[in-house]
Amino acid sequence: MTLTRIHNLAISLDGFATGDRQSLDAPMGHAGRRLHEWMIATRFGAPILGLEGGTAGVDDAFAQQHEPGIGAEIMGAGKFGPPDWQNDADWTGWWGPNPPFHTPTFVLTHRPRPPLEMEGGTTFHFLNTSPAEALDVARKAARGKDVRIGGGPTVARDFIAAGLVDHIHVVQVPIVLGRGVRLWDGLEALETKYAVEAVSTPSGVTHLTFTR
Ligand SMILES: NC(=O)c1ccc[n+]([C@@H]2O[C@H](COP(=O)([O-])OP(=O)(O)OC[C@H]3O[C@@H](n4cnc5c(N)ncnc54)[C@H](OP(=O)(O)O)[C@@H]3O)[C@@H](O)[C@H]2O)c1
Repeated sequence: MTLTRIHNLAISLDGFATGDRQSLDAPMGHAGRRLHEWMIATRFGAPILGLEGGTAGVDDAFAQQHEPGIGAEIMGAGKFGPPDWQNDADWTGWWGPNPPFHTPTFVLTHRPRPPLEMEGGTTFHFLNTSPAEALDVARKAARGKDVRIGGGPTVARDFIAAGLVDHIHVVQVPIVLGRGVRLWDGLEALETKYAVEAVSTPSGVTHLTFTR
């Protein structure tokens, strides 16, 4: 059986997974890099900023789970680009010519466009459909591997609310953002549907896993 998984989804203590006022200059809005400093410090995350090295401890062990066994990703329009990227015919995502997905990657948007084949095995497909239908399409594309729900929080929340996610890894970062987009809204009693574990690490974050 293949799984639908969420990994490395970072939230503030007050539950925000991105800040307010996202823009081309501020992909995470006023949150800046603060939600991801724990990950950038790891071996997994350092190369994202072109850095070498990084820690190889518990944060890295969790972060590394992001890739193995994944055959497709689904993300929201808010992860793929800044507000109204759909008006820019040349926008191909934040990640340059060789995005770090290396699988079919499905972008949910109400303003879809033709597929974009990138270097390194990533092809972006743009879908205007329900979470359940998007997951059906992504599962077929994943060819027997798991599907990752890559975020942002709106799409992650919608897939969780629809009961479509088997494994959720959330990283609670000890910062208070005060505003932005929350992950948990409307997901009352989610903990009753999953086995929940929590591990705090020396970097100060708490890794929470919800496993069905
Ligand atoms: N904290 C983390 O670990 C993490 C992880 C990933 C991303 N992020 C950040 O999260 C932010 C994006 O999150 P977000 O919650 O603002 O947006 P999002 O979840 O990425 O995307 C939401 C948007 O996707 C489109 N959409 C969603 N469901 C759809 C459906 N069923 N059919 C058609 N279109 C659909 C809609 O956009 P349109 O109506 O415009 O098409 C909707 O406004 C970014 O700042 C990103 O950097 C954070």
